[in-house]
Amino acid sequence: MTNALPAPAVAGTENPLAPATLTPDATESGSNRGIKSGAKGGTTALSPPDPGNALADVRAALDAAARQAGRDPRHVTLIAVSKTQPADRVRAMFAAGCRDFGENYLDEAVAKQDALADLPITWHYIGAIQSNKTRPLAARFHWVHTVAREKIARRLSEQLPPGRTLDICLQVNIDRDPRKAGVDPAGTADLLQAVQALPGLQVRGLMTLLDAHAPPAEGYGRLARLFETLRPFATGPWDTLSMGMSGDCAAAVAAGATHVRIGTALFGARQVPGA
Ligand SMILES: Cc1ncc(COP(=O)(O)O)c(C=O)c1O
Repeated sequence: MTNALPAPAVAGTENPLAPATLTPDATESGSNRGIKSGAKGGTTALSPPDPGNALADVRAALDAAARQAGRDPRHVTLIAVSKTQPADRVRAMFAAGCRDFGENYLDEAVAKQDALADLPITWHYIGAIQSNKTRPLAARFHWVHTVAREKIARRLSEQLPPGRTLDICLQVNIDRDPRKAGVDPAGTADLLQAVQALPGLQVRGLMTLLDAHAPPAEGYGRLARLFETLRPFATGPWDTLSMGMSGDCAAAVAAGATHVRIGTALFGARQVPGA
């Protein structure tokens, strides 16, 4: 069994060659591993995949990976990574049955959230956090997966609208890649203790993005072991391992992922701005 999900089925295209504007997004490490050679045609296609088919394929692959690992598939939440996708495609994916969406860019996310305000979507923020933009994050998202500094957590806590809570994952730079964001594994216990003391924040667990070339079973296994090591320090719910993308989510589920973040396998290749 490979770690890659099948690439989404694509309506109305027989030519697998991608136009220049539909190159897979390779701007973030690990975002395009192994996803392009799926059973139903490449993701480099002219028209986007049918949301219902793509969602069913991805869900089936996650369920199979969970069962193979002896896990209950209901314990794996699928977050559809909708960055760069227009609101109408998010709406279509919602209509197909997806309830959790992940966004990386705040301004883009805010516009989409406004356009989709009629839908009961659970919004996950999975991008880099600028400290001057924490207020809308605190007000508009249900989850923030990318907290790696106490300063950011403090701002989120202070800026939470009254009566709201925010679910948090600590982003760990599990392979200590100097190009990547995330707290060093050795600093995670201190960060956990600082963040969970802040009002309104519920620290649920850990998140990571693996290096593009790292063997996923190893990296995700390391995050899962760190998660267990930290369990005695957690004062709140400690139930979330946010790890796995289109190209490696089966390995992530096998290692214990409770939330996988899938973009390409659901929506097709992302359009790179300016390409
Ligand atoms: C943090 C994060 N998780 C998951 C993904 C989804 O990656 P993929 O499109 O390979 O599924 C992305 C994509 O940019 C991402 O930035």
